[in-house]
Amino acid sequence: MANLADQNAVLAALRTVNDPELHRDIVSLNMVRDLAIEGSTVHFSVILTTPACPLRETIDRDVRAALSGIGVNDVQIDWGAEVRTTSRPDGPRKIEGVRNVIAVASNKGGVGKSSVSVNLAVALASLGAHVGLLDADITGPNIPTMLGIEGGLQASGQNGLQPVETYGIKAVSIGFVLPKGTPVVWRGPMIGTGVRQLMHDVDWGDLDYLVIDLPPGTSDASMSMAQDALIAGAVIVSTPSKVSIEDAQKAVAMFDRLGIPVFGIVENMSSDIFGRGGARQAAEDLGLEFLGELPLDVRIREGGDGGVPVVAGHPESEIAESFFHLAEQVAARCSVLQFAGEAGVR
Ligand SMILES: Nc1ncnc2c1ncn2[C@@H]1O[C@H](COP(=O)(O)OP(=O)(O)OP(=O)(O)O)[C@@H](O)[C@H]1O
Ligand SMILES: [Mg+2]
Repeated sequence: MANLADQNAVLAALRTVNDPELHRDIVSLNMVRDLAIEGSTVHFSVILTTPACPLRETIDRDVRAALSGIGVNDVQIDWGAEVRTTSRPDGPRKIEGVRNVIAVASNKGGVGKSSVSVNLAVALASLGAHVGLLDADITGPNIPTMLGIEGGLQASGQNGLQPVETYGIKAVSIGFVLPKGTPVVWRGPMIGTGVRQLMHDVDWGDLDYLVIDLPPGTSDASMSMAQDALIAGAVIVSTPSKVSIEDAQKAVAMFDRLGIPVFGIVENMSSDIFGRGGARQAAEDLGLEFLGELPLDVRIREGGDGGVPVVAGHPESEIAESFFHLAEQVAARCSVLQFAGEAGVR
């Protein structure tokens, strides 16, 4: 039976529980808070590094087993999350109010970057995170259509451009400012300036994650993004086809050169038509994390064209499940890299 005198014993037991990805115990990671013992009941909070934590059940099980080992079986845990901020000495400046920037990229066009960006953002938000989405495809913005937002909607507030709030996320696109169908014929330097403004001149408020949808290629948009803002990491999208994988490898090489960590590769459009597993193999060959498979599914296309992201329109579907899985994987990689950054490892 636990009493006040047992606080130390409880903490000692909790120190034997490691965060499975950070490989350190949850007490020294400051994840255990507000420990209180009332009679035989032990209460405390566990503050995870992201609300999209895939490891909560594992940690819950390990905590209960460790406490049971010292005879404490009446345990009440309040779960919470505090997303930490990416920090990298000598990195570019942070975007005001944004803890982590996640870039979604591939060298190849049409592989699903925008679809992944939108659904990743909405999935992270529905798991409880504060999320923004930035359309960095200045000359071919698709985010307005995918979110069902008409042109001319963007309002300018006191603190700069105001994001449009929809599906639980804050979104910004040049396509919100311009009437639909207006071509943007900017070239290099102007695109760079445009991306910089969309990142820094927007009143984002307080965001755990800002997802950036990049245009295809090693473009001006990618370069500006990398030079003008601290990026937590990149998600590379590839279809299973060989040519797409070759292009994905180029994207990985580009981020390496830019000094931006790659969270991993996600395979999109896995199917009998395009094949399956090619991107997983490529991730393995490149020593990168495989972030999951997204099947070829007409609901992704319909959701994109109809302005209702599939994660919001069919949250119970298997395809939404795949996006939730992706969101958890990305959030977990982000936590791991932040931690490596804090420990001085790149
Ligand atoms: N898994 C999928 N299943 C079915 N359709 C998909 C899937 N992923 C993407 N699509 C569809 O494929 C088309 C291209 O996707 P998307 O616009 O997301 O690609 P992109 O990589 O952003 O393209 P771009 O290089 O032009 O920016 C869209 O019509 C989208 O709805
Ligand atoms: Mg796109």
